[in-house]
Amino acid sequence: MDAFEIRGGKRLRGTVRINGAKNAALPLMAAAILTDQPVVLGDVPELSDIRNMARLLKVMGIDAKRNESRGLRLHAEDASPCEAPYDIVRTMRASICVLGPTLARRGRARVSMPGGCNIGDRPVDLHLRGLAALGAQIELEAGYIVATAKRLKGARIFLGGPNGSTVLGTCNIMSAATLAEGETIIESAACEPEVVDLANLLIRMGAHIEGAGGPRIRIEGVDALGGAEHALIPDRIEAGTYLIAAGITNGEVTLENFPLDGLTAVLDRLDEVGVRVEPVDGKPPADGMHASVRVASDRRLQPVQVVTQPFPGFPTDLQAQIMALLCLADGNSIIIEKIYPDRFLHVAELLRMGARCIRNGPTVLVSGVSQLEGAPVMASDLRASAGLVLAGLAARGTTIVNRVYHLDRGYETMERTLQQLGADIQRIDVQAT
Ligand code: EPU
Repeated sequence: MDAFEIRGGKRLRGTVRINGAKNAALPLMAAAILTDQPVVLGDVPELSDIRNMARLLKVMGIDAKRNESRGLRLHAEDASPCEAPYDIVRTMRASICVLGPTLARRGRARVSMPGGCNIGDRPVDLHLRGLAALGAQIELEAGYIVATAKRLKGARIFLGGPNGSTVLGTCNIMSAATLAEGETIIESAACEPEVVDLANLLIRMGAHIEGAGGPRIRIEGVDALGGAEHALIPDRIEAGTYLIAAGITNGEVTLENFPLDGLTAVLDRLDEVGVRVEPVDGKPPADGMHASVRVASDRRLQPVQVVTQPFPGFPTDLQAQIMALLCLADGNSIIIEKIYPDRFLHVAELLRMGARCIRNGPTVLVSGVSQLEGAPVMASDLRASAGLVLAGLAARGTTIVNRVYHLDRGYETMERTLQQLGADIQRIDVQAT
């Protein structure tokens, strides 16, 4: 099994280009189910989650082919399969995003109910309530969601849940509503940039959608959608992770293809910590999404309060990474996790590296220490793993981050990117050592 061996203490320097966004790619790939024409996505990262989604789409009659320029061509060749089987869905919860498109286009969907995962329970009740409001009949059958509808009917749907809206739920309902009869209004829609990216693709395919990016999305259903070409937005979580990597190593890094507008809350927190991010030529790009920025950090990091929230708040997907940074700040920081209150498996691993953290429910008090110590640690989920790698980059001595298959789900060859920046990090096979 692969692990990362990191000898900490190197200051990162150099330039990195941020890849297309994984969490945009997954629902956009599923949108290919909505049409019999090809959908071509650009800047699709090489990740195991993308390969798993392509595998699932293949089972569902969609041919998925890579092209030479990091693109992915998806073409529905057989519109009859309606089942997303358990053995693929259990490897990737995001498989749920085939539910809306399959139901809308094929009249029936049988999708394995995703289970919980290391970051919490992750229910899909809002997805199901939304589809039911569009007129679908929903049943649970031997661990599968079975949804049927001759043709969906537009409706007014509220997608707010106890922890805010739902990102993939909004994607599912918005996709399904593009082929429904009449008007759908989604209230309390997720405002994440990935939802906007999906809306932009669907509009290119011929959908009528207004308001994506805000809490109310209006969709006027059409009879059919066509093909389209679309380049993915850059990955704001990958970008945020490398920002923090620069900050935690007191490095000087330039990030290209940087989604400035997707990271306002993160830049705000980092600024208070003492990690400065400036557009390279002094002014941000007009579209706010493809910037070049330079990151540099103060020697003394200041403690802050971080509260994870739905977009435009601080993303839960960067909570573990900023925790690693705050472990080295000069005083007490507070982190409150409002999206997944149990997403704290990295805390115990950071403690093994000499961090001082006290967790109480969804809150962690992080008391900064002057130095972290390298140690063998266990990755538990994708973003927790990223937090541990960052801690390892700053720690004294050697850190082994085990189970990096979690990282490979969401970061394309992270070790190579960090090596390019001067980090001492190797991928090793732990059985061989
Ligand atoms: N929720 C419900 N009911 C639902 C759906 C969600 O109560 O039907 C709750 C969840 O339990 C959670 C909150 O609502 O407390 C938000 O969950 P959401 O549905 O927005 O999460 P998601 O769409 O399943 C996406 C990302 C996650 C990211 C979350 C939150 C993808 C593929 N995944 O998940 O990314 O953490 O939004 O921003 O887009 C990751 O990349 O590591 C990752 C986990």
